[in-house]
Amino acid sequence: MKARVEKIFRRLDPQPDALILANAVDPHLDQTFFYVFDVPSGLFEGSVAVAHPDGRLDVLSSPLEAESARAAAKRDPSVTVHVVARGDETDQTVKKLVGSSTNLALDYRELTHEWFARLDKLLPQAKWVDGSNAIRGARVTKDAGEIEKLRRAAEIGSEVGREIPSILRAGMTETELAAEMEFRMNRHGANGRSFSTIVAFGAHGAEPHYQPSASALASGDSIVCDFGAYYQRYASDITRSYHFGRRDDELKKVHETVEAAQRAALDAVRPGVPGKEIHLAAERVIDASPWKGRLIHGVGHSIGLVVHDGWGYGPQVDDPLEEGMAITVEPGIYLPGKGGVRIEDDIVVTRDGFEFLTTAPRGYIEVPA
Ligand code: GLY
Ligand code: MN
Ligand code: MN
Repeated sequence: MKARVEKIFRRLDPQPDALILANAVDPHLDQTFFYVFDVPSGLFEGSVAVAHPDGRLDVLSSPLEAESARAAAKRDPSVTVHVVARGDETDQTVKKLVGSSTNLALDYRELTHEWFARLDKLLPQAKWVDGSNAIRGARVTKDAGEIEKLRRAAEIGSEVGREIPSILRAGMTETELAAEMEFRMNRHGANGRSFSTIVAFGAHGAEPHYQPSASALASGDSIVCDFGAYYQRYASDITRSYHFGRRDDELKKVHETVEAAQRAALDAVRPGVPGKEIHLAAERVIDASPWKGRLIHGVGHSIGLVVHDGWGYGPQVDDPLEEGMAITVEPGIYLPGKGGVRIEDDIVVTRDGFEFLTTAPRGYIEVPA
């Protein structure tokens, strides 16, 4: 994609002669490869992309995804595809494409050490430049095509968020519920889950990055479901919290406080506002409640080709929000030994505020046991 390659090069200073992106074996795939090469299907293990300052892109594809690569290149005249069957063909093609250029940028945050050693041997004239900050800066604001895919991924997550109350049954396990949620996301059109689904019953909800187990759902449990879909490589990330059976007055008030914290954070969202202001707006609400200090993570992060897309904001972050950023807003209150509540939405920053991508109801939902 010419515009995306140019967006990265505009941020590289000094200008390198080329940017080389190289994929290892799944999951060590550099998602920036898919940022510059908009190809909806294919794994592209071992593939390389050589991007040029004028926006052109050379893509080295294995025969395993040659059809998809060629079809994508047909839609985009700035892309040339080279189908290479073996590692030595890859090396020779990269050498030919780079020629005698010396200033070469790499994505230091994603390139494996093995690939670096290989490129360093292959291109002995190279002076390597770290392109990762420029890449992050380009990827953090989304173009219209990216927002469309993020919106679809978020719609799939929202659809399942709306369905969860109808799935809950006393005695079902956390892993059963997670499996049902993932099945439904795929049935709604997802290309898989964007991260390991979190389902936490009762006291487990006090741990934000909990992994589901064989624990069974019982009356009186709070439920935290944090999940997301991939749609054409773009991720969603949504959390909804529910209450099952016997009313717990404290957890209901905790839920209302988290909702108020999220509203306060969202009210602060607009271009130019330092990231920390969004966090602090949510934290102020929680710290004025009986659950002071129970927000134990930054209140959001950017989202895109991966769920944690390179930028996050907590109490120390001065970087401002920019129009076109896609971010999560996800305050929570965590009560060890009892449970937790988190509400997480995906939004896009607009010229004068924000727009929701996720739409499932955020209010307190009691599901009869
Ligand atoms: N799903 C992990 C997070 O919300 O950051
Ligand atoms: Mn999440
Ligand atoms: Mn998140």
